[in-house]
Amino acid sequence: MSKKFYSLIALIMVLTMALAACQTTATEAPATENATPMQQETPMTTEPVTTEAVATGEGTVPAAGEFSVGIVLPTRDEPRWIQDETRFRDALTQAGYNAEILFSQGSSATEKQNVESLITQGIQVLIICPQDGAAAAAAAEEARNAGVKVISYDRLILDTDAVDYYVTFDSVAVGKAQAQYLVDKVTGTGLPLYLYAGASSDNNAFLFFEGAWSVLQPKIADGTFVIKNSSEAVALQDKAELTRDEMAGIIGQVTTNWDFNTAKNLAEANLTSASAADKGDVFILAPNDGTARSIADAFAADTDVTSYVVTGQDAEVASIQYIIDGKQSMTVLKDVRTLVNDAIAAAITMLEGGTPEQTASYNNNVIDVPAKPSEVITVDKDNVKEAIIDSGYYEASQFTGLE
Ligand code: BGC
Repeated sequence: MSKKFYSLIALIMVLTMALAACQTTATEAPATENATPMQQETPMTTEPVTTEAVATGEGTVPAAGEFSVGIVLPTRDEPRWIQDETRFRDALTQAGYNAEILFSQGSSATEKQNVESLITQGIQVLIICPQDGAAAAAAAEEARNAGVKVISYDRLILDTDAVDYYVTFDSVAVGKAQAQYLVDKVTGTGLPLYLYAGASSDNNAFLFFEGAWSVLQPKIADGTFVIKNSSEAVALQDKAELTRDEMAGIIGQVTTNWDFNTAKNLAEANLTSASAADKGDVFILAPNDGTARSIADAFAADTDVTSYVVTGQDAEVASIQYIIDGKQSMTVLKDVRTLVNDAIAAAITMLEGGTPEQTASYNNNVIDVPAKPSEVITVDKDNVKEAIIDSGYYEASQFTGLE
């Protein structure tokens, strides 16, 4: 046959492949950008929430198949995870990649559906922040069985060997930073201490508490602080190191479940049952920013509370404003840009057949998961401008009253 005929066949093949590629991209990454988080009040049930990141820079945009990574985050109802979504979108856009970000809306069942949907779409790497560390094992195992590499993101997936890598912050250091802040603000002895914790389904809640207890316990044992809202903690106050079960007992009594309303109700109940003598100048270990704002509001509204020092974490915009306004004492900045970049770098390394950098390991009850924990920074009124604005984390225009 003639050379011309072969050229024509080749051209038709190229065009057919190009058309197929366009269709694949369109179905794999539908541009169903959601409304702003505040508007989306109903939790996702069946339809995955999709966030598309499209390259705008000069680099070539790999087809979806070339960066076959799916991301699953716990909930859109907490600003922390919206931060992660935004930072993922920024980083992906900058790198010229495209990936789906799905939210589990506080449901392990939805999380599993999201993972299954991503597996069906042909992802090769799953980046997942589990809603519930133990419940996520089943989804991780499905991914593993489908040949997908699993990166546990921020929170550790427990009770399975189907976790390839863990990118996280040093969560024990977060708890230590919170407790150290309280200790540094102390004058005198016999000071009322109120303890609050995260959700016991989240392994991080234990790590935060473990870190905090290691700093607070000596100051409780020597009478500097007096615990006011947990009989379990009082019973264990002479023990420097707690077992997981002992921590579970305390967390069970003072859990916010990472929920603002639960935190508010618990703080109000604690204040109602406390006498005026249990109040005055109080110290509050609040596990994160969302719960810290609720708890702080409850304490501020109690006329028997003369002053309070309250911790937080995540450097949420609303809490930075609270810190500027003197309503929250501190937060722990966990620079989400670092976590996102580490997760994307690990995914790329895995796609290339390599092994991501390991600087630590975390036992998940079955294996030691290779990990890369990142450092955290204490932020209060004194360094808020430097740590948050000058570092480029947020813009000054997002706040009022910043000096
Ligand atoms: C995260 C925190 C977050 C909390 C509630 C933890 O696992 O590390 O940053 O505030 O979950 O979502």
